[in-house]
Amino acid sequence: MSRLFSPLKLRETVFRNRIFVSPMCQYSAIDGMPNAWHMVHLGSRAVGGAALVIVEATGVCPEGRITPACLGLWSDAQRDALKPIVDFMHQHGALAGIQIAHAGRKASCDTPWNHSRHLAPDKGGWQTVAPSALALTPDHAPPVALDRQGIEDIFSMFMAAAQRALDAGFDVIELHCAHGYLLNSFLSPLTNHRDDEYGGSLENRCRLPLRIAKALREFWPQDKPVFVRISATDWVEGGWDLAQSVQLAQWLKEIGVDLIDCSSGGLILEAKIPFGPGYQTGFAAAIRAEAGIATGAVGMITAPAQAEHIIATGQADAVLLARELLRDPYWPLHAARELQAEIDWPLQYVRAKL
Ligand SMILES: Cc1cc2nc3c(=O)[nH]c(=O)nc-3n(C[C@H](O)[C@H](O)[C@H](O)COP(=O)(O)O)c2cc1C
Repeated sequence: MSRLFSPLKLRETVFRNRIFVSPMCQYSAIDGMPNAWHMVHLGSRAVGGAALVIVEATGVCPEGRITPACLGLWSDAQRDALKPIVDFMHQHGALAGIQIAHAGRKASCDTPWNHSRHLAPDKGGWQTVAPSALALTPDHAPPVALDRQGIEDIFSMFMAAAQRALDAGFDVIELHCAHGYLLNSFLSPLTNHRDDEYGGSLENRCRLPLRIAKALREFWPQDKPVFVRISATDWVEGGWDLAQSVQLAQWLKEIGVDLIDCSSGGLILEAKIPFGPGYQTGFAAAIRAEAGIATGAVGMITAPAQAEHIIATGQADAVLLARELLRDPYWPLHAARELQAEIDWPLQYVRAKL
């Protein structure tokens, strides 16, 4: 019996297996609006058998996008354009998730195929914001440190995006607190030098992400899960680390958050990260064991036996795959064959089932 292909229940929401599509920016939107690319990209991964497809980091406001080509959820038109994509994913048995995000000091960049260069306001970019006025690199304009009103506005924009996500029909909402973006930069002492109640102690640095997570959990329907993606470590001495992540996960559990999606890095670009198969899985295992909350493992999970092992040995409750699902949207269908597990193929493709 494959554990990877056993259903997972979080609240009243049942995932058909433990394979989730990790959120992946497509840099293909205009004015934050999804289009045919997003339908085909997200839809084919639902057809491919994943249990949950998480839409890319979606800006809660225009300045919260990484690039001008990132998705947004600050308008009703964006909500309405996401709805048919959600409906399509549902028609193919996948649940739909969305990662709501603010890119903070990592915003206002060009697309990766234009080398992710910082965009000045006269080149289509904008003034960035952050907990403290510390530039990402010397090539980036320094962000403006958010004042009290700025923080309240960020809070309100996350909640407005959550309302639109719900109205678009999403099952899962994921709060992006990873990879050096705004909420991650509040957590880490390396990027948060504030001396008000949002900086300093661990409790203060966690205050804004926890405030938003708590309000999200209170708002999001009781039968639907809320995920939080964190960077479990900055991979830098004196930065955010696993011990702080375990404490944050305990607080998130108390609030009622359902799953911690355990990524790492992205805050400090020079950090030395020991990339390799499953290099972040240990974070999911430690947080699951020490904070007693469901976790997702992500990062260089590519082989069916590897994914099966992670679930079967209780290191995580689900695996999130990113690049492997770009190589092969039908990875779950292929993995089921390899693990001799039963999985429904789309009716249209049944004649190809081996
Ligand atoms: C094209 C691309 C876009 C990504 N965009 C996001 C994103 O929007 N939000 C996020 O949290 N991570 C993003 N990531 C990181 C992935 O979700 C994942 O954590 C990372 O790629 C490691 O998993 P992998 O080894 O399976 O690719 C992105 C990765 C790729 C390759």
